[in-house]
Amino acid sequence: MMNPLETFSTDRLILRRPVPNDAEAVFAYASDSDVMRYLPRLPSTDIAESRAFLERCERVWETHEALVWAITLNQGMSLIGMIEGRLSAHGVELGYVLNRPWWGNGYMTEAAGPVIEWALGEPDVHRVWAYTDVDNQASQRVLERLGMQREGTLHRWMTHPTPSDAPSDAFMYAIWK
Ligand SMILES: CC(C)(COP(=O)(O)OP(=O)(O)OC[C@H]1O[C@@H](n2cnc3c(N)ncnc32)[C@H](O)[C@@H]1OP(=O)(O)O)[C@@H](O)C(=O)NCCC(=O)NCCS
Repeated sequence: MMNPLETFSTDRLILRRPVPNDAEAVFAYASDSDVMRYLPRLPSTDIAESRAFLERCERVWETHEALVWAITLNQGMSLIGMIEGRLSAHGVELGYVLNRPWWGNGYMTEAAGPVIEWALGEPDVHRVWAYTDVDNQASQRVLERLGMQREGTLHRWMTHPTPSDAPSDAFMYAIWK
């Protein structure tokens, strides 16, 4: 049985469970087509979708389907993005997003590092993985910096409806114990 941590603290960040008040900050990135380019859904056009997402975060945490943490700057507490671990029998799949003003500062590597360390410290977690569009170089750099290995290419693996309805190829990355 997993023992999820509710908060993580790093040099610059605090990860915490999302709250309903986060809806505006979620909508700020979820409505940006540059941010959503390599994510599996179209940009939001209505903040109600962000509220529904936050309700889902609450629900899936309780069922241990997935754990979602809001990534906040420890100075000022602004919500800059989200990181999610989807739980399966022996592993955790990571998903993550940062709002555009905060790209390029190494924040996602800083946020994901302790999440991976926590996950691999759980007795039942043997593998942490993430896949990313072959064109999403920023995400690949993050996964490589986290010490994950590129295991291969998943052809026609997922659809990113913002650029195209055609399924695109993805790289699978993983770290295991
Ligand atoms: C992918 C993402 C999480 C990277 O997080 P980050 O904290 O910005 O990552 P880093 O600061 O380590 O930068 C990673 C790479 O982004 C690129 N990058 C940096 N600044 C950038 C900017 N202003 N605009 C675009 N790309 C930029 C660089 O190639 C950098 O690689 P380098 O360090 O070798 O130069 C972030 O870009 C993001 O949220 N993108 C949208 C959502 C997404 O694609 N999620 C992942 C789905 S698999």
